[in-house]
Amino acid sequence: MEKIVINGGQPLYGDIEVSGAKNAAVAVVYACLLVKEKIVLENIPPIVDVSVSLEILKSMGVKIKMLKKDVVEIDASEVQQGSSPAELVRRMRASYYLIGAELGRFGKASVDYPGGCDFGVRPIDQHIKAFTALGANVVVDNGRIEATTDKGMQGAEVFFDVVTVGATMNLMIAAACAEGTTVIENAAREPHVVDLANFLNSCGANIKGAGTGTIKINGVKELHGCTYAIIPDMIEAGTYMIAAAATGGKMKISNVIPKHLESVTAKLKEMGVAVSEGDDYIIVGAVPELRRVNIRTLPYPGFPTDMQPQMCVLLCLAKGVSLLNEGVWDSRFRYVEELKRMGANIKVDGKTAVVEGVESLSPAKVRAVDLRAGAAMIIAGLATAGKTEIEDIHFIERGYDNVVGKLAGVGASIKKVVVPDENVFDIAN
Ligand code: EPU
Repeated sequence: MEKIVINGGQPLYGDIEVSGAKNAAVAVVYACLLVKEKIVLENIPPIVDVSVSLEILKSMGVKIKMLKKDVVEIDASEVQQGSSPAELVRRMRASYYLIGAELGRFGKASVDYPGGCDFGVRPIDQHIKAFTALGANVVVDNGRIEATTDKGMQGAEVFFDVVTVGATMNLMIAAACAEGTTVIENAAREPHVVDLANFLNSCGANIKGAGTGTIKINGVKELHGCTYAIIPDMIEAGTYMIAAAATGGKMKISNVIPKHLESVTAKLKEMGVAVSEGDDYIIVGAVPELRRVNIRTLPYPGFPTDMQPQMCVLLCLAKGVSLLNEGVWDSRFRYVEELKRMGANIKVDGKTAVVEGVESLSPAKVRAVDLRAGAAMIIAGLATAGKTEIEDIHFIERGYDNVVGKLAGVGASIKKVVVPDENVFDIAN
């Protein structure tokens, strides 16, 4: 068992570099199953969700070679369909891309139901609707998804009932080598959707319109190998932007695409934070007093739900009452109880948190209840004078590359410590 210990209250200064995007990388890695030649992926984030994904592929017969810490060679010329290990598949959400990838490669799929962070109900009905439209017969039985087709994937029109990142990307994977044309309407427009399309196109796919609400995929016979660099992680970047603002420091966050962070930048500016941009970096400097704002999370280009907990910490430190409305997930406020341990004044009513700013937070022992919640606890700890301890940090390591080392590099007093099991405090109840 490990925990993160922070002696907070010091402003952060300096340069911090962002790694590759988790939610692009985990889709691209599974999409490699479509390709029978070698692929080299650069700017792959060394995080647990990626290493588990690679482990899943490896156990299916795919050859994986780490060329550098952030460069991997994937050779899926040989794959055993339906052989993904249940225990690993259930550890993460993105393993649902295996269904699209197996369907695209073999015309059938057999995969365990995915896991992932707990935000209330996380249905995959839109994935199933899309695969069914392309000719698959999909059955969910005993925690396993079984999909079969008579003659492989057949292009079709799919209108999603909700804007869904996962189903949009899964359908792109399943349709890249389908017979005929697939049109996705009400598609998600996130940068990772565009990144997946760019990757597949680099392998010879014919995908147009990614980044808009309509994506057109002309199926191709087969894909070829390529070398491809994953985009930078906008959520990691946004997390460090808020860390700079919350601690009253000044940080240059590099290896970013500032355009991807426009909604976050806009809100920070509305709060009075100084934000400036270069081609591939953002500089964030704090102000003596943060102003209250209202925020609603939405699909891209709206304010990202994956920045909601981190932003909540900043709202706790702003003057006045802010409203934070969750517009994507049913239930993403489990972390509020943890922030309350630190003296936050937050009331949750359904999908809205009413956040009343406090003079300062106080240090406490808290838990990372999920990935972004964990990032929020780190920001809260950094902004709070005294010793904050964060437990269950395995959630954080699923999505942040070397968060402790990177923050220590900008002056944070932060370390990871191993706790003997019997000494772990129990705050679960
Ligand atoms: N939805 C359905 N049916 C479906 C799929 C989704 O009703 O078949 C609903 C969901 O319940 C939710 C909304 O549609 O209300 C959006 O879900 P989406 O499919 O976009 O989410 P996801 O693909 O499961 C990805 C990210 C999440 C991120 C969301 C929203 C990955 C691996 N995960 O999840 O990232 O919150 O998109 O942007 O890409 C994170 O990185 O911390 C994280 C949770």
